[in-house]
Amino acid sequence: MVVDLAVALRNIARAQDHLRAQNLAVRPHIKTHKLAKLAEAQIAAGAVGITCQKIGEIEALLDEAPSIADVLLTYPILGTAKLARLKALAKRVRLSTVADSPEVVVGLSSAFAKEAQPLHVLVECDTGGRRCGVQSPEDAAALARQIAEAPGLVFGGLMTYPAAGGQAAATAFLTAAKAAIEGQGLEVPVVSSGGTPDLWQTRADGVVTEYRPGTYVYNDRSLLARGAASQADCGLRVVATVVSKPTPERAVIDAGTKVLTSDLLGLVGHGLVCGLPDVTIDQLSEEHGRLTSASPIPLSVGDRVEIIPNHACVVTNMVDAVHVRMPDGTIELWPVTARGRVT
Ligand SMILES: Cc1ncc(COP(=O)(O)O)c(C=O)c1O
Repeated sequence: MVVDLAVALRNIARAQDHLRAQNLAVRPHIKTHKLAKLAEAQIAAGAVGITCQKIGEIEALLDEAPSIADVLLTYPILGTAKLARLKALAKRVRLSTVADSPEVVVGLSSAFAKEAQPLHVLVECDTGGRRCGVQSPEDAAALARQIAEAPGLVFGGLMTYPAAGGQAAATAFLTAAKAAIEGQGLEVPVVSSGGTPDLWQTRADGVVTEYRPGTYVYNDRSLLARGAASQADCGLRVVATVVSKPTPERAVIDAGTKVLTSDLLGLVGHGLVCGLPDVTIDQLSEEHGRLTSASPIPLSVGDRVEIIPNHACVVTNMVDAVHVRMPDGTIELWPVTARGRVT
């Protein structure tokens, strides 16, 4: 796994400039890189904090990245063991999280009721992504009231992870939810949205206050397919070696599902072989990737290929360390700080 640091830093700076111009705070999702040093680079570039999906990611990053002071955990937290870890984290960093059900609010409140500092909880809204989230602005208002009345909690605002191309629907939902909540006499301090597919189209809409892009830092084949990035913007590559060439039209590389993962994200093939557009990675087993083409493949055993993975964020989680090509051309090995932190 090779990260081109100059590309990643350029992606960070461009997104920061673009979002700042729209008056949006930037809170990058670190699940894409899971690297303490890139989280610090995002904060140095002007991010107000970071987004994490798992408690374990926060624990790992805080140990290594002292500049992280503000974290939004965009995941419903349940169970006494996780709530105890959340409480411990809230003593180390300004922490907020989300809820989309009364059950999650009750659990968070029971954990934080006796704490000196209350926990800020945002209502997660399903604005079209059809994953988590309350289903209507009225439900958002009801849950906001429950949070505001719960001991140990403060209502922190609204959060959504919109469907790609779903920004207009998100704006409509969030505007109605905000009005309904303000109608109850509550303030809505933060309205958090995000996603790289629509990053470059994002414009100030009068309701969203912060944006949480994740994949933008590396980009990947799924974003190439959407026209949201160019190959030059793809900062994470898998460098694989041809280990077998059984026929002129078939080569086998030493990267299978345990490196490239089996995420297709709707694409045909398991990654883009740079410089060989006619070659498809048409089949993966655990440790083998099969390259096929209608014409002879100009590769021999021992050759190396660079692959842009379909989905950078899952590939990141597959290795202990990434090779980082520094802007001066040297290579450093960086441990993937939050690798495997999925609880
Ligand atoms: C809650 C949440 N916010 C932000 C993001 C970042 O999205 P993207 O990687 O498309 O930039 C994700 C991605 O899965 C997410 O789940």
